[in-house]
Amino acid sequence: MDVFVKEFVDKKKAYEEFNTQKRLYEIGVKCPKLIGDGPEKRGDKFIIKMENVNGTSFRDFLNKKYISKRKKMFCLLFISENIKIMHSKTIKHLDLKPENVIILEKKQGPITFNDVILIDFGNSFIFGIENDNTKEYRTFEHRTLKALTLKTDVQVLGIMLYEVYFGKLPNLLLSYDSKAWDEEPKFDDVEEKNPLYIALENLYKKCMSEDKDKRITSKEFYDILKRILYSKEYNNYWV
Ligand SMILES: Nc1ncnc2c1ncn2[C@@H]1O[C@H](COP(=O)(O)OP(=O)(O)O)[C@@H](O)[C@H]1O
Ligand SMILES: [Mg+2]
Repeated sequence: MDVFVKEFVDKKKAYEEFNTQKRLYEIGVKCPKLIGDGPEKRGDKFIIKMENVNGTSFRDFLNKKYISKRKKMFCLLFISENIKIMHSKTIKHLDLKPENVIILEKKQGPITFNDVILIDFGNSFIFGIENDNTKEYRTFEHRTLKALTLKTDVQVLGIMLYEVYFGKLPNLLLSYDSKAWDEEPKFDDVEEKNPLYIALENLYKKCMSEDKDKRITSKEFYDILKRILYSKEYNNYWV
């Protein structure tokens, strides 16, 4: 097996990430299989070893123009399925973004659950407001330095939904001003709002509320997106 080595300066962080990833692997989350019983010391650093996943980052996948929007949306469906499994054990990811997902690209055939691999669980044991307002996927909690919760991951699912549909980040993420949230976040205006646009915008809105209690759960996100993806009703609108 090809080995990927991840280095840590901090011993505690190496152990936390190893233990989280081990547990996630055991409960059926698609993530790289760890090698060994725990972190090892290497020089003045600590390392964890895992299976090297040969694939494309979801970021690079999104950038490929020849891959259809529907196929990219299937990746997001399986990301949300993994998040649903994590959340069922109340484990947060908290660093969800296309760079932290690897897609096993096949020459042929549709994307399946087994092709979408989550990585980087280095933030999932963050408690309270130990958060970073400079990151790209800046949720409402990041922006206002509020506590990060399972619903923070749900907001990121919403942001990725927008990114798959529009091929860019929502404007409100580009500003550092929390006023950007004054109006309810919605999709960009288009000339003709087709049924697929309306269904996806509704799902987006259910993720983007600044009040985390008004957001849906990752399980609801998965169920709604799955219905949209498989429903014949929207077949003609995936361009
Ligand atoms: N198991 C793996 N197999 C292949 N590449 C990996 C693996 N884990 C991480 N990577 C690559 O290394 C990068 C950094 O790893 P990551 O766990 O995200 O650490 P960081 O906390 O530095 O972002 C990832 O974006 C990915 O490209
Ligand atoms: Mg990373």
